[in-house]
Amino acid sequence: MRFDVVTIFPGYFASPFDESLIGRAVEAGLLDLHVVDLRAFSDDVHRKVDDEPYGGGPGMVLTAPPVFAAVEALRAEKDAPAPHVVFLSPQGRRFDAAMARELASRPRVSLVCGRYEGIDERTREAGLFDAEISLGDFVLSGGEAAALAIVEAVSRYVPGVVGDAGSVLSDSFEDGLLDYPHYSRPREFRGRAVPELLLSGHHEKIRLWRREQQIRATFARRPDLLEGAALSDEEKALLERVADRTRSS
Ligand SMILES: C[S@@+](CC[C@H](N)C(=O)[O-])C[C@H]1O[C@@H](n2cnc3c(N)ncnc32)[C@H](O)[C@@H]1O
Repeated sequence: MRFDVVTIFPGYFASPFDESLIGRAVEAGLLDLHVVDLRAFSDDVHRKVDDEPYGGGPGMVLTAPPVFAAVEALRAEKDAPAPHVVFLSPQGRRFDAAMARELASRPRVSLVCGRYEGIDERTREAGLFDAEISLGDFVLSGGEAAALAIVEAVSRYVPGVVGDAGSVLSDSFEDGLLDYPHYSRPREFRGRAVPELLLSGHHEKIRLWRREQQIRATFARRPDLLEGAALSDEEKALLERVADRTRSS
C-alpha cells in the first residue's frame, strides 16, 4: 500500500518511517511511503506557503495555490494508483478502527497536513479532498502527528505488516470489544500472581476466559462500544449477569 504525506516539515517523518514495524514493512516492500514537501509547490522565492487572513485576526493561513498544486501533482502521477486524498483537520470525521480498516483497503492514501490557523477554505469549497479526518476532539499544532498515527493504525491492517495477523484480530475494537488482559514473566510480581488458568495449557478454557475478560473490561471502561459488539447468545447472557452484578453492588 502507498501513502503520501504532504507537509511543511518533511524531516518530522524520518525516524518514525524508518524504525520498528513501519520501517520493516517499507523494507519488505509492503508499504511505500512518500513524504512530499509542500514548500516545493510554492511560487514564492522564499518558498512561503502561508499568509495573513483576510478580515484580520490572529495567526496565518496555509494558502490555496501550493496545496492545490501538491494535490494535483499527486493525482496526475502516471503509473500509480489514484490517491484517496485526505485532509487532516479537527473538523473532520473522527478516526477509528473501522476507518483504519477501510483506508487499508485502498491502494493509495494521501494525507495532507495543515498548519497555522488552518487552510484556505477554497480547498474545501472546490472539493479538493476526498475526505477530512480528525484524530480526535482536540487541536494539534499541525497535521503531522495525526498523519503518523493514521499511517501506523492503517498499516496494521495491511497483510504482512504485523507478523501475526491473529494479534490484530484480537486487538481492542475489532469486534466491538476491548482487548483481554495480558500477562508475562515473572509468574508472581510484588505479591500478584498470574491467573492460574493461563498456566493450565487448556486452550479452550483460556479462550473462554479471555472472551469473558473482554466483555467485563468493555462493560467497565467503554460500555458505549457494547451496542455494536458481535456477541453470541451465551456472551449476551454473560453481559447481562455482569450488568446485574454491577447494578446490585
Ligand atoms: C492549529 S490547527 C488549526 C485549527 C483550526 N483553527 C480549527 O480550530 O479548526 C493546524 C492544523 O493542525 C491539524 N490538526 C489540528 N488538530 C487536528 C486533529 N484533531 N486531527 C487532525 N488534524 C489536526 C490540521 O491540519 C490543522 O489545519
